[in-house]
Amino acid sequence: MSSEPHIVVVGSANIDLTTFTDEFPRPGETIFGREFHLGFGGKGANQAVAPRLCGARVSMVAHVGDDLFGPATIQNFAARGIDTSHVQITKGVSSGVAPIFVDSAGQNRILVVKGANDALLPADVDAAADLLRTADCIVMQLEIPLETMYYTLRLAREHGIRTILNPAPGQMLDLEQLANADYVIPNETEAETLSGLPVTSLHEARACAVHLLRSGLRRVIVTLGANGALLASAETVEHILPYRVEAVDTTGAGDAFIGSFARFLAGGSSETEAIQRANVYAALSTLGIGTQSSFVTAERFAQAWAER
Ligand code: RIB
Repeated sequence: MSSEPHIVVVGSANIDLTTFTDEFPRPGETIFGREFHLGFGGKGANQAVAPRLCGARVSMVAHVGDDLFGPATIQNFAARGIDTSHVQITKGVSSGVAPIFVDSAGQNRILVVKGANDALLPADVDAAADLLRTADCIVMQLEIPLETMYYTLRLAREHGIRTILNPAPGQMLDLEQLANADYVIPNETEAETLSGLPVTSLHEARACAVHLLRSGLRRVIVTLGANGALLASAETVEHILPYRVEAVDTTGAGDAFIGSFARFLAGGSSETEAIQRANVYAALSTLGIGTQSSFVTAERFAQAWAER
């Protein structure tokens, strides 16, 4: 495996406000939550931190707000050794924030207010074009304007750079344009939104992935939570088994999967092995609370991978 592949994330950065509770207030009611956790998050930022922890060189292309959170977010990237030369502070806009609610089964509900993430435009991608051309893999999600995501996919294809798109949060998308992505990686609900088909079982996930391939997508990986992942391409449809753990908080596990998958694939692992590794990395993240704060080091991953 190559020692330090270069991953560039064109995506979001949020501040996660996580409340642990099993109950929700009715209109006009005040109730007590169990616990609170403030942390750095955002699907883009999380998908940058995971490959960095797994030993990749990582650059971030993003916008943050000119509030308390913006400079702190940039400092967090820098402290983790992530290149921030293309992270900009947008004047007069709040940073992206995500109030998150986690129940005692470890399941999460997330509300995202995009704030400055909406200011990441194709002009920013042009400004980062020299950086993007050095990437082994570009990773994107949907917490930025769709036009920026489509634009980056086209640019990457023109230059032969591998791309991974995580279509999250789930939205209706132009599948013709998604054909520019090398990998589209939805979870079950995002796969439903993308395809219009139900995805409540492995059988349905398979049918959905095959439908998306027939619609022009190159490779689809449906992440199945505690059931592992399904890889579908012209060559194969393969169920990759999970790494089983007792989850405490599943928030960000999908991001841990995608970021680490990008690193393992760009580092030379086969698709199947990169997914097996990403399954382990994502499962380990569910043992801690928060998103980035729950992502493990390369050493912790290597230990679990060796012992599995
Ligand atoms: O995938 C988890 C992430 O979704 C959180 O960090 C939150 O910020 C939202 O973007």
